[in-house]
Amino acid sequence: MKFIIRGGKKLEGEIRLAGAKNAATKMMVASILTSEPCVLENFPEIGDTEITAELCRSIGSNIEVENRPDGSVLKIHTPEIKNSKVISLSRRNRIPILALGPLLARVGEAEVPILGGDKIGPRPVDIHINALTAMGAEIEILEDRYVASAKNGLHGANITFRYPSVGATENTILAAVLAVGLTEIHNAAVEPEVLDLIKMLQQMGAIIEVGANRNIYIDGVKELRGVTYRIMPDRNEAVSFASLAVATGGRILVKEARHDDLITFLNVLRKIGGEYEIQSGGIVFYRPPENKILKPANIETDPYPGFMTDWQQPVAVLLTQADGDSTIHETVYEDRFSYVKDLNLMGAEIKVFSQCLGGGSCRFAGRDHNHSAAIHGPSKLKAANLEVRDLRSGIAHIIAALIADGESVITGAEEIDRGYERIDERLRKLGASIIRKE
Ligand code: EPU
Repeated sequence: MKFIIRGGKKLEGEIRLAGAKNAATKMMVASILTSEPCVLENFPEIGDTEITAELCRSIGSNIEVENRPDGSVLKIHTPEIKNSKVISLSRRNRIPILALGPLLARVGEAEVPILGGDKIGPRPVDIHINALTAMGAEIEILEDRYVASAKNGLHGANITFRYPSVGATENTILAAVLAVGLTEIHNAAVEPEVLDLIKMLQQMGAIIEVGANRNIYIDGVKELRGVTYRIMPDRNEAVSFASLAVATGGRILVKEARHDDLITFLNVLRKIGGEYEIQSGGIVFYRPPENKILKPANIETDPYPGFMTDWQQPVAVLLTQADGDSTIHETVYEDRFSYVKDLNLMGAEIKVFSQCLGGGSCRFAGRDHNHSAAIHGPSKLKAANLEVRDLRSGIAHIIAALIADGESVITGAEEIDRGYERIDERLRKLGASIIRKE
């Protein structure tokens, strides 16, 4: 599948955010914790939720999706666990490991596939495994799968993470809500998607406290009930559309974008010459006419409330249009800059370095990871034929193609469909020239 894009148009109009991918997939897994029906509103119909639906169905969930203008609705009900060995899935994402907790809680055993390294770094899962082991799980690591059991059930534990991993925090919470006793997670991730999952679980009957300094406390309960929950809007989509408005010199109302989720991004956007207006139903993004050329910036990605790693790719495209030298220091993933080759092919001037650029040093210092980028601008971008490397680099390709001279062909569109709902159709409504072809 490919996208054929002709650049040069200002994007203008309104676009509604889909529900957050990185909350929806975890909430589908959370629904397995109860035998009662659950309803998820503002459900994003994207590749990653389809893959997660396959996982849940193979466990025993009945799933229905209903289209509605204000976001689809997912009805998911797992009256019993029919299968706790979910290794023969046809497509995979990083979600199956999160099913370990709910499966151990409900049936005391689970088998999930091992997730290999992917295109943005090795992505180990040691923090997940250590936490579940501390809670009483026995986990055997085979060549292709984790085989887990908790014959005497899971119990609370006092766990300190070596890094505030989003997935490991979610995994531990999902395991702890039905465990016996209190679980403490120190140095936990507190991303808005994690808090959204916590809110859903609270409504299901869980007792979870989010304390100061990245501490989360979970008091296990005996059982959870069904819930109707509206998934938070996708803040990564919001940043992508904001970047598109500013990159093309257009004006876009991003409906349902929330100020709270975007504070760090809004500061960066304003510093580089973009503007925004917070409204009750969303945020308008634009580039004031006097800011014909953008300004450079030094950015460092960090866990929440820092500048998110999933935002650096669209913003890198903006920085190619800034007058001067910018840096991006990626501190979350060791290998998330391979897409700069593609931008360079289009005429950008970006170099990657293994040193920590921009001031501070991070946990990758002195290791051989190309985790910093220096961008020299402004560059006039020209069309190119590109292959999507991962979801977020795919959106950078789209933004770059929409401001480039000529027609670009982006192959591997399926990767973009994993996280963005009907992106081509929605961008066409803003005036983009983008066509999907087999
Ligand atoms: N890490 C470990 N050991 C672990 C777990 C993580 O070393 O056991 C490391 C990772 O290798 C990485 C860092 O910790 O260097 C952060 O990983 P984290 O676990 O926080 O990320 P994740 O849960 O795998 C989620 C999102 C990512 C997003 C990150 C950071 C989902 C499905 N994915 O990944 O989103 O970038 O949090 O916020 O929620 C995307 O949407 O395109 C995407 C990659």
